[in-house]
Amino acid sequence: MRYPRPSAAARPAPPRIRRSLTALALAAALPSAVAALPSGARAAGAAAPYLDPRLPAAQRVRDLLGRMTLEEKAGQMAQAERSAADADPDRITSLGLGSLLSGGGSVPAANTPSGWADMVDGYQRRALATRLRIPLLYGVDSVHGHGNLAGATVFPHNLAMGATRDPALVREEQRITAAETRATGPQWVFAACVCVTRDVRWGRTYESYGEDPALVTAMETGIEGFQGRGGHDLADTRHVLATAKHFAGDGDTVFGTSTTGTYTIDQGVTITDRARFERIDLAPYVTAVRKYRVGSVMPSFSSVDWTENGVGDPIRMSAHKELLTGVLKKRIGFRGFLISDWEAVHQLPGDYATQVRTAVNAGMDMFMEPFSAPAFVATLVAEVRAGRVAMSRVDDAVGRILTAKVELGLFEHPFTDRSRAGTIGSAAHRAVAREAVARSQVLLKNAGHALPLRGTEHIYVAGANADDIGNQAGGWTLTWQGASGPTIPGTTILEGIRRRAPHVTYSADASAPAGDSDTGIVVIGERPYAEGIGDVGNGHTLALADADRAVIAKVCGAVPTCVVLDVAGRPQIVTGELPRMDAFVMSWLPGSEGAGVADVLFGDRPFTGRLPVSWPRSEAQEPINIGDRHYDPLFPYGHGLTTRG
Ligand code: BGC
Ligand code: BGC
Repeated sequence: MRYPRPSAAARPAPPRIRRSLTALALAAALPSAVAALPSGARAAGAAAPYLDPRLPAAQRVRDLLGRMTLEEKAGQMAQAERSAADADPDRITSLGLGSLLSGGGSVPAANTPSGWADMVDGYQRRALATRLRIPLLYGVDSVHGHGNLAGATVFPHNLAMGATRDPALVREEQRITAAETRATGPQWVFAACVCVTRDVRWGRTYESYGEDPALVTAMETGIEGFQGRGGHDLADTRHVLATAKHFAGDGDTVFGTSTTGTYTIDQGVTITDRARFERIDLAPYVTAVRKYRVGSVMPSFSSVDWTENGVGDPIRMSAHKELLTGVLKKRIGFRGFLISDWEAVHQLPGDYATQVRTAVNAGMDMFMEPFSAPAFVATLVAEVRAGRVAMSRVDDAVGRILTAKVELGLFEHPFTDRSRAGTIGSAAHRAVAREAVARSQVLLKNAGHALPLRGTEHIYVAGANADDIGNQAGGWTLTWQGASGPTIPGTTILEGIRRRAPHVTYSADASAPAGDSDTGIVVIGERPYAEGIGDVGNGHTLALADADRAVIAKVCGAVPTCVVLDVAGRPQIVTGELPRMDAFVMSWLPGSEGAGVADVLFGDRPFTGRLPVSWPRSEAQEPINIGDRHYDPLFPYGHGLTTRG
């Protein structure tokens, strides 16, 4: 083992407890609070100022910092994956871990609200068994609802929400997601992605609200939905701490060969100049920090290369002191804490000690070290002892983390408030998701007013994505990558159509005869993926699958009116097929409420969605964005036909 866990003997003895008169007086004034503490905590300084909810957060944090050893501070800066904590349950207490996370698909054995709450509370009990009983922060990727939880309301992915052009709806979405998440234990979400996607070949395109920074910024109302008004309302157990990610330029990386190298698009290199970087990539963070007071920011895996310097020297964001500390913390005024992305510091140059030192000194506050938190703590302690990391930097980081815990009310209420568990996946929550689905549908072609349908037609439904809720939910649903098939409760697009139209024939591969059908609805699209796994070039393409093209040809050749729906995380190349279609609808990744698609198909609601990204004619046209000098997409940014509702 290169980085052994510090042995108990190596840890300094806790500082002696001072029992001042004021502390005793406070204890007398707070009998119930003190009585509620476990005996260990009482011995460790009951009624210490940091435990007094009447004092301002800054005073409590200062008091607590003053009591902590270096080891305890390093522990607060570490975040481990829950599976690592399960493998070594003592780890939470012995390291005094600041946080745990569930990675994509990392769920309790019983993937139910109480299974989650029992799990998080169990970890919390271990955190409260530490000398200073500092509560744990638990984080999860609720990127389109509490997607890891079976039975959660699963909203359309962000790109679809961008198509709604409705900031109030996004706020409502995240208000519901916050409530469903916190009712199961986690008090922190790694959302919203305020990434600006500039090339839809990026596998994370669907996590972005769109290609225009102004649109992304408008949708940051979601942060208010997560955190409550003004970002002050975190102790209310309907809210969660939010994360703006991935700072910055994650959606603006170059693809392929540039003057400085050959790059993959996800976790790639943003080659830009400072003015353009400010305008495209940084702008959403100014709003997230100044207007919505976002509690945390996650630096990106990607790197930045200022070509204006001409040298091509990409610097990874996790090491970018100028941007993390100089720009984000100092100039923009970010007061929350920075959480590194999944093992991101392992990608920095040098050995592990160099990686940790570089990131801390650049301004990183908490480290997502899913499986190497013990090594992280030992390494950081050693770096501080060696004088290579200043104690003031550590105090700044820990102070930011503790402030979030105080503001979340975790010292007073460390355990899950389960009182709203009954609202998870409720009809009321699903109704909002269904509305979001309807509002996000973009009608790209509607020859001869093919849509809306009346409902009395004989309808022939085909295509691989017509009756597949897993495909319509996409990645970050139950598992990191998502999966095809009946993975989650909800309605598929076919079920929504069936509820609305009595005469439906369904044949996924269009092998059944179309007979005297009036209208065909062909649902094509992608299968789930997440992150770089979905990059074009990594086994993916923007081209339609052969099977999708075959079904379009067959159905559109056999019925008088042919409607095609695309269920995908990004535009696909339909240039050749478009002439065969009477109507073409972009359905995005709608999530659990497929019935929202039927709502617009049958005119119960109008089509109002508008493209959040430019739709390319060919894959070779990427990157293509509004404002380009030679702009000739198949459908421009903002396109979307309307119907009467
Ligand atoms: C992703 C983040 C995510 C984290 C935790 C990383 O791979 O880039 O967006 O929050 O994993 O699941
Ligand atoms: C985790 C994700 C994480 C990814 C990073 C996966 O195993 O489940 O949460 O984002 O690894 O590579």
